[in-house]
Amino acid sequence: MGMCRGILVILTVILVLGNLSVICNGDESEKTLVKKVKGQKVCIRGWECKTWSKYCCNQTISDFFQVYQFENLFSKRNTPVAHAVGFWDYQSFIMASADFQHLGFGTTGGKTMQMKEVAAFLGHVGCKTSCGYGVATGGPLAWGLCYNREMSPSQSYCDDTYKYTYPCSPGAEYYGRGALPIYWNVNYGATGEALKVDLLSHPEYIEQNATLAFQAAIWRWMTPVKKNQPSAHDIFVGNWKPSKNDTLAKRTPTFGTTMNVLYGDFVCGKGDVDAMNNIVSHYLYYLDLMGIGREEAGPHDELSCAEQKAFNPTSTTTTASS
Ligand SMILES: *[C@@H]1O[C@H](CO)[C@@H](O)[C@H](O)[C@H]1NC(C)=O
Ligand SMILES: *[C@@H]1O[C@H](CO)[C@@H](O)[C@H](O)[C@H]1NC(C)=O
Ligand SMILES: *[C@@H]1O[C@H](CO)[C@@H](O)[C@H](O)[C@H]1NC(C)=O
Repeated sequence: MGMCRGILVILTVILVLGNLSVICNGDESEKTLVKKVKGQKVCIRGWECKTWSKYCCNQTISDFFQVYQFENLFSKRNTPVAHAVGFWDYQSFIMASADFQHLGFGTTGGKTMQMKEVAAFLGHVGCKTSCGYGVATGGPLAWGLCYNREMSPSQSYCDDTYKYTYPCSPGAEYYGRGALPIYWNVNYGATGEALKVDLLSHPEYIEQNATLAFQAAIWRWMTPVKKNQPSAHDIFVGNWKPSKNDTLAKRTPTFGTTMNVLYGDFVCGKGDVDAMNNIVSHYLYYLDLMGIGREEAGPHDELSCAEQKAFNPTSTTTTASS
């Protein structure tokens, strides 16, 4: 507290000029800087939330999601039979999230919603990177982050349709890599552009750098797959308001619809299929392990996209992954 008071004295001076103040959060170790912009409160909170934003006034992800929880969720990832031993870790996830927390990733809507969003995002990740199967030790849900790449690609995923925008680089292979696996030159190109990393020439960076792999996945979660569509994030936290067409297509602001926007008819609109149920099971399992409890996920309807029409039907897009 003594030190915080010292800072307060200094900041009082700044306050006059910049309308800036500091909160010493009793039990929180990170200081939150607060100011008002046009009547709205915005904050900066440590290195995790380092751009002025209303979201940074809330807890950051590491305040409610810690190493032991990450280890619980992905408990089998470093066993000898896993396929990315030593690759994925908590630090990489938190480092990657720091680029998106000021935009609302894991910082929207209060603690329960914040924890639910982390569970939902990681539920998608865990399912897509799992090598668990029916009889796996620890159960099929304990094997998330077992992979960081597709093991036996049957092709190099070069789509010539995009030869002017995202031309394939000679020798590069665009098979699935990452936490929400990226496939195809067009998707490596778009992700690389957003993250300012030349993934079109170097798609292999994603399987070499876990922070980058998580950044790419969180970017996908936070960004609409197509213009005029919501992001999975906006759907999940309720920022998105369905149109009439969406309502007719049974698309609601729920976890179910995050599967729709990310995977379309690979997963949704096909009844109670395994591809869908597996993602839902990971989400619910993680809610339990994080101490929120699966009851918080809401009724089955909100978890399912079994009856939804796809945002992006397969026939008109290659941007959905498997
Ligand atoms: C921050 O958390 C509070 C509840 O603690 C919530 O009401 C508010 O909406 C959150 N802020 C943002 C920007 O989501
Ligand atoms: C991994 O990626 C992160 C984020 O893009 C970057 O800051 C870091 O330098 C990279 N690490 C290596 C060893 O290239
Ligand atoms: C709604 O659906 C109709 C029929 O499929 C379509 O013509 C129209 O463009 C859609 N409207 C919006 C806003 O997407």
